[in-house]
Amino acid sequence: MKKQVLTGIKPTGRIHLGNYIGAIKPALGLAENQSYNTAYFVADYHGLTKIHDPIEMKELSYGVAAAWLALGLNTDSAIFYRQSDVPEIFELSWILSCFAPKGLLNRSHAYKSMVEDNQNGGREVDSGVNMGVFTYPILMAADILLFQTELVPVGKDQIQHVEIARDIAESFNKQYGETFVLPEYVIQEETSVLPGLDGRKMSKSYNNTIPLFEEPNKLRKLINKIKTDSSLPEEPKDPDSSDIFSLYKEFASSEQTEIMRKKFHSGIGWGEAKAELFSVMNSFMKEPRDRYNELLSDTEAIDQILQNGAEKARKQIIPFMREIKQKIGLYH
Ligand code: ADP
Ligand code: TRP
Repeated sequence: MKKQVLTGIKPTGRIHLGNYIGAIKPALGLAENQSYNTAYFVADYHGLTKIHDPIEMKELSYGVAAAWLALGLNTDSAIFYRQSDVPEIFELSWILSCFAPKGLLNRSHAYKSMVEDNQNGGREVDSGVNMGVFTYPILMAADILLFQTELVPVGKDQIQHVEIARDIAESFNKQYGETFVLPEYVIQEETSVLPGLDGRKMSKSYNNTIPLFEEPNKLRKLINKIKTDSSLPEEPKDPDSSDIFSLYKEFASSEQTEIMRKKFHSGIGWGEAKAELFSVMNSFMKEPRDRYNELLSDTEAIDQILQNGAEKARKQIIPFMREIKQKIGLYH
């Protein structure tokens, strides 16, 4: 039996380097490996916890879909869909919510940090928190468990969500017998949290991202904004603690990376290091960027691809959904 791999990205902003390195790149690697079944999706209902403007929702969803496709996702082998096109996920989400202890969700990082922000700002603890934010991990558990997922490639910030999915699966299994596979997360240890322009985690929420498909001029400017220390050009630098180097190696060949490592040791100015980073990244992204723009100019084609994917997804999960309902006592 092939192992099932699954991951999703929510359309709450433009795809950035952190998304690419933490989630998309490893997921594409797994999609090429014949020993896995892969399911990748646009987590639009997760996006709805934040995005309440219909035009923005549409544009951002197409952006996420086009990013996967432009980066080379093969939709003949991987199932690629929009979460909202697979209604069984939401049926399961309700079922799982009846097995999710509220205390577990109170401890979810995303919710907890909103509560803490409110407390620090002297507001009511739940101010600005909608129930979608609170139950977010349950919907994510449904995404994962419905596909009998074994491996979930994500960035480090999502580990807790995968653990919550495991907890919920275990408590369901305990009640009804072995039903759900217990998922595991797959983390890129080296670059598990890519820093943004201000040194904090690169995230749409912090406005510190480098969008992956940014056009060359803006890309160069953004790279120039990456924070560096005040060491002089001729001073030796530690490549392994440099954000510039860690980005460089994601886009450069192994030979280029070794040369750059030596340059760091013997001393390279930050300006020059940034220029080299721009150069490898820009040439790596040239083709994907063209494909991305082309895809976005024909969104009907994207819709078609996503709908085909949703059909395949439903074919795979509907029998399992029936089994789950039978176990609960809903079907005879
Ligand atoms: P954001 O924090 O920008 O809202 P998402 O939560 O939509 O990003 O993340 C989508 C995927 O990209 C997740 O698997 C997440 O772990 C990964 N990811 C996001 N930011 C980073 C980062 N700075 N470094 C590594 N992975 C990241
Ligand atoms: N919560 C994830 C994020 O913010 C997106 C997501 C939704 C997801 N459902 C998923 C990731 C299922 C992996 C598996 O990045």
